[in-house]
Amino acid sequence: MRTTTTSDIFRFDISAAKQALNADGIGLPPHTYTDQQIFDCEIALLHGRAWTCFAPLEKLAHPGSVITGQVGKVPVIVSRARDGNIHGFVNACRHRGYTVVERDKAKCLTLTCRYHSWSYDLSGNLIAAPDSEESFDKTAHGLLPISVEVWGPFIFVNPDPDAKPLLEAMDRLEPVARQLGFDRNPERYRLMETTENDQNANWKLWWENATECYHCPTIHASTFGANFQSRPENAVFQNSGFVTATSFPPSSDDPALKPATAIHLFPGCHLVQETGLMVMSRIVPKAPDLCTVIAYYFGEVDADESQVRNTIDLWKRTYAEDFEVVRHQQATLASGRTRPFRYVPSREFQVIQHVQNVLTSYESMSARQQLY
Ligand code: FES
Ligand SMILES: [Fe+2]
Repeated sequence: MRTTTTSDIFRFDISAAKQALNADGIGLPPHTYTDQQIFDCEIALLHGRAWTCFAPLEKLAHPGSVITGQVGKVPVIVSRARDGNIHGFVNACRHRGYTVVERDKAKCLTLTCRYHSWSYDLSGNLIAAPDSEESFDKTAHGLLPISVEVWGPFIFVNPDPDAKPLLEAMDRLEPVARQLGFDRNPERYRLMETTENDQNANWKLWWENATECYHCPTIHASTFGANFQSRPENAVFQNSGFVTATSFPPSSDDPALKPATAIHLFPGCHLVQETGLMVMSRIVPKAPDLCTVIAYYFGEVDADESQVRNTIDLWKRTYAEDFEVVRHQQATLASGRTRPFRYVPSREFQVIQHVQNVLTSYESMSARQQLY
C-alpha cells in the first residue's frame, strides 16, 4: 500500500515557487492558506519546532508561579521552581493525558492533576501517584520537557526538547536588537494589559500584514499611519532569515518621541517598542482559517500612565483595522477564485522574506518524504 508523503500534500513545485517569488514577487499558491493537510504540516513541523516568544518574564516572578498556553498544537506549562530555575513541559498528565495545569497560577507548591491527583513538583518530577503499586517507577513518569529560555523581559519556548539554543536558531536577534536600540532590560517595563483575539484568517496572512507598512497610510490613516513615517526611505530595515526588523521615525519632530521599532521572529511573534510602550504579540494558529493573536502591552516604568494607556488604545485600534483586513483576505481565498498574490518588492520585501521562509520550511518538510 502506498503511503501519503509530505510532497503529495503540498501539490505544487516549491522550487519553482521560490523562483517566481524572487524574480517577480509572486506569492504562495492560494490553497496553502486554506488546506487542512498543509496546515497540519505547518503546525507539527514548523510551529512545533520553532522558538516562540511565549510570555512576559514577570509572570514567572516568584518560585511557584506557573503559566500555561499553547505553542503549535502543544499545550505548554512553564514553571519557576523553588530554586529559581525555569522549566517547561508538555501540559499532559503522564497518567491518562488530562491537562495538568488548567490556568496560570501565581504561587503553588506542586502541579496536581485534577483527574486522579497525580502530582508533580515544579521541576516536572512525578512525586505522587495515589494507590499505584509499590514497584511503580515514578522517576520514569515525569512531565515531558520542552525547551525554555529567557531573553530580555520575555520567556521563549520551543516544544522541541532538543531544540538548538535560542540565540543559535535566531542568530540575528541579538545584533538586530542592539542595532535598532531595542531595550531589553526586564526592569524597564511592566505588564499593563493582555488581549486575545480570534481571527478568521490563516496565520500567514496575519504575519504578512504585520511585516509591511505599505498599508499604513491607507488602512491605518488615523492610527499608526498618522503617528509614524512609513515611507521606506525614512525607515531602517534589517532583513535576514528568521529575524526581520523595521524602525519607523515618528511623524512629529518632538525630540521626546521614539521611533516605532518592530522585530519579527519567524514564524510566530512580533516585538515592538515605541515611546513609553512595548508590545509583544504572538500567533497561535488554530485551523487553516483561524488563528488567535495574543498581545501583551507593557508600559515603561517611568512613563506617564495615562499616556501609555492612550498609546495602548491606539495600538488596539491599529490591530482591529488589521484584523478586518485579514478576515477579508481569508474570505476571498476561500472562494477558490484567487491567484497567488503579487507583492510590490520595494514595499513588501519583508513579506517576501517571510514567504521565502515558509517555502524553505515546506522544502525541508517535503524532503522528509513521510508524514510526522
Ligand atoms: S490523568 Fe492525571 S491523574 Fe489521571
Ligand atoms: Fe497593519
